[in-house]
Amino acid sequence: MSHNTISLNQQRQPLDHLDSVWLFGYGSLIYKTDFDYLAAKPACIYGWERRFWQGSHDHRGTPEAPGRVLTLIEAVGARCAGMAYQVTPATFKHLDHREKNGYLRIFTPLHWLNETGEVQGVVYVASADNEAYLGPDTDAAIAAHIARSHGPSGPNSEYVLQLAQALRDMNQQDEHVFAIERELLKL
Ligand code: SIN
Repeated sequence: MSHNTISLNQQRQPLDHLDSVWLFGYGSLIYKTDFDYLAAKPACIYGWERRFWQGSHDHRGTPEAPGRVLTLIEAVGARCAGMAYQVTPATFKHLDHREKNGYLRIFTPLHWLNETGEVQGVVYVASADNEAYLGPDTDAAIAAHIARSHGPSGPNSEYVLQLAQALRDMNQQDEHVFAIERELLKL
């Protein structure tokens, strides 16, 4: 699968018939909201965990020297907390462009963190068959890769540090994110 997913997302999952859509963010979408939204609420999804296993050609690296950013990996019993945003379908023109480097939109149930209830929402997942996928490595190797990477959106390290801080601000733990942050701070 090509790493540019803009037209794939628009063909596979048209959203224009809906009044609004809940988008779940687990990475940069938690701390960088460069789009309008109608409402925002902390939420979590089950059966998925965050991993710095996706290459970034367009934000935190370049095609010649990709950075490492998050994707979601399916894992039985896992829970991933993030932010949900209620957006209009038109907002996906911007979001699909922002998340074009290998991410496909899927629908999944979102559970609110501060109230009961759930809603169907959309999440961007970069699966192992996209061309930009990098896959697992040790925490130290992932951190070293992140420490030397830089792209149009800024240093790759900023992606990790801002996300870790945003999770702490939400009182949420993520062992993988905090382990990579610890390794990064040692360098
Ligand atoms: C997300 O934040 O939900 C997707 C991955 C990213 O843009 O960092």
